[in-house]
Amino acid sequence: MFSEIVPPTVGVDEMMARRPKGIILSGGPKSVYETPSPTIDPRIYETGVPILGICYGAQLLTQQLSGTVTRTGQSEYGRTRMQISAESKIFVDWPEVSEVWMSHGDAITEVPEGFVAVASTPGAPVAALCDAERSIYGVQFHPEVNHTERGADLLERFVHDVCGAPATWTHVSIIESAVEDVRRQVGSGRILCALSGGVDSAVAAALVHKAVGDQLVCAFVDTGLMRAGEAHQVEQTFLRQFEVELVHVKAADRFFDALVGVSDPEEKRKIIGELFIRIFEEVASDLGSTDSLDYLVQGTLYPDVIESGAGDASNIKSHHNVGGLPDDLNFELVEPLRLLFKDEVRAIGEELGLPHDIVWRQPFPGPGLAVRIIGEVTPRRAEILRAADAVVVEEIRRAGLERELWQSFAVLPAVRTVGVMGDERTYAYPIVIRAVTSDDAMTADWARLPYDVVERIASRIINEVDGVNRVALDVTSKPPGTIEWE
Ligand code: XMP
Repeated sequence: MFSEIVPPTVGVDEMMARRPKGIILSGGPKSVYETPSPTIDPRIYETGVPILGICYGAQLLTQQLSGTVTRTGQSEYGRTRMQISAESKIFVDWPEVSEVWMSHGDAITEVPEGFVAVASTPGAPVAALCDAERSIYGVQFHPEVNHTERGADLLERFVHDVCGAPATWTHVSIIESAVEDVRRQVGSGRILCALSGGVDSAVAAALVHKAVGDQLVCAFVDTGLMRAGEAHQVEQTFLRQFEVELVHVKAADRFFDALVGVSDPEEKRKIIGELFIRIFEEVASDLGSTDSLDYLVQGTLYPDVIESGAGDASNIKSHHNVGGLPDDLNFELVEPLRLLFKDEVRAIGEELGLPHDIVWRQPFPGPGLAVRIIGEVTPRRAEILRAADAVVVEEIRRAGLERELWQSFAVLPAVRTVGVMGDERTYAYPIVIRAVTSDDAMTADWARLPYDVVERIASRIINEVDGVNRVALDVTSKPPGTIEWE
């Protein structure tokens, strides 16, 4: 299904003008008791369009329809067991007890008139409610995250059975509409694509290439903050894969100079984002006049857009390809993946015929190793982290776990610890192993890596990476942690 996220301030009339088959009121970080907190015109409940409220959305509709939301003091975060107590169109064939993913402080304690409570958990007396007659449903848990066992089923039931909407948003139709959009946007203009070596920029480049052929020029900036061997690998793959001009800029010194003395994560992101853009502008003017090269492709995904605060979501991090762009940008952005999630990007990457090792490569953040080097980013610290990360990548691959994991990498904290090696005292950095499973990076669980793999990684890092004397394992899910450390 094609779906769009709009801010709650969009009026009912505008929403109805889009002729929705169904409306989902999403979760959010606020409490319905806070002022201000997002709200919606209550006329929405009289439109007859089916509604599903999730978490905050369920609490909002409960409050607006005169049920009760209470500060119970019993928050629930993460995996929770839920008991279903009554039948409902959204729980077809669910087991009586199942695991759902929770993230709430307040709870619904009394359903509005016309509703029935259909499920509960230890911290949520009403974990799901429905008014079948008006087709209004609410769930306290998050069906949209992979960790809710039957979450996708619930969304399918709501979309297909309750809303009666057919599944027409396929890989082929996504590609067709993206290609059309790009053609319409750029006309006969020339476009620069920043390749990072990751799947997003590769798929974005392939899409744009499909749309406008040799109007596209690709550039790869080696920031000194890439993974081991990446610069070489990118050049190899893209020179062969794309029959377009590839400009390779070696800019490590400039990035390290710009990051001297900077340890604030947001500042790092902004500096790196800005320098990237400046370098692209230089590449563009080297290639001719900026007038004839006025579009820049970005592999921005929908989660980046949402997390950067579009539509009132709380600003979790400013991803460099959205929130951290300088104001005086000289390019117009082309973002063909802006409405897509990672799984959709991979699927269309396959459809476009990109090699498997690009399509299935683990995501790597735009600012590179800089957001995994806590504290100041120096060439020496980048070298330590790159060497440790190479061990993690190699051992995870050797154990056949690379595809199973969403991401697996090393982090370099800004502390040093005491150790003893060869009868001598050491005072060196620890390395943290971060490995997570996830479907879309919006939520993640820490990966239960086999102990023998953890042990091999740890002992190889200590033995092979100069400057490291200790290895730790991060066992935090998202939420409450984020995947990256910064
Ligand atoms: P977090 O750390 O927010 O990351 O849980 C979610 C996903 O996004 C990636 N990430 C980034 N990607 N620019 C990017 O292109 C960035 O600034 C950035 N920060 C995080 C991260 O690797 C994970 O897959």
